[in-house]
Amino acid sequence: MSIENGLKLFRFVTLVAIILMALPACTENGKPVKGFVLPKGDIPQGEQVFVDFNCHSCHTIPGVDFPDVEFTAPFVLEIGGEVYRVKNYGELLTAVVNPDHIISPKYVNMLKKAERDAIISPMPYFGEEMTVAELIDVIEFLHAQYTRLQPQYYRGYYLTK
Ligand code: HEC
Repeated sequence: MSIENGLKLFRFVTLVAIILMALPACTENGKPVKGFVLPKGDIPQGEQVFVDFNCHSCHTIPGVDFPDVEFTAPFVLEIGGEVYRVKNYGELLTAVVNPDHIISPKYVNMLKKAERDAIISPMPYFGEEMTVAELIDVIEFLHAQYTRLQPQYYRGYYLTK
């Protein structure tokens, strides 16, 4: 390769690298956030926040009993339980402070079965009413509700339970 072509290639590779670095982790309606650290929350307090904000009118959590609600949403989405991919802390936090960022695929499937489209999340934005301490506690509580299932393999096949 001539020096000139080598230089061209080098410039091209550098340009691609810069573009890739500039691409935000999250392209729509959100700022990419890196490395935020919140203080540890309190799980029982978080359960109380979940009830106080009526989250249980739209969500169930396996193994947790909540008081009765006056109104139950037509499509109740389960949070937590035994899953192969546990929602990480950041994903849970995003789901609560920015419900429209990612519409849960499970919810989209539920609506599809009922022949309805899920374009925006019916989940309210709690940013105006919820304190940061409440947010931290409720996320700590939610995070503790997931149990990771170990995938099982049999002669190269992936088995689900
Ligand atoms: C009016 C109904 C409603 C209320 C009230 C509500 N949610 Fe939701 N929530 C939804 C729906 C519908 C989805 C799925 C669509 C989406 O991803 O935003 C969802 C998604 C979520 C998810 C993501 C779940 C997943 O598996 O991706 C979390 C976490 C969550 N909600 C937590 C909460 C918390 C905490 C509260 C109370 C502070 C709350 N929700 C109140 C309807 C509600």
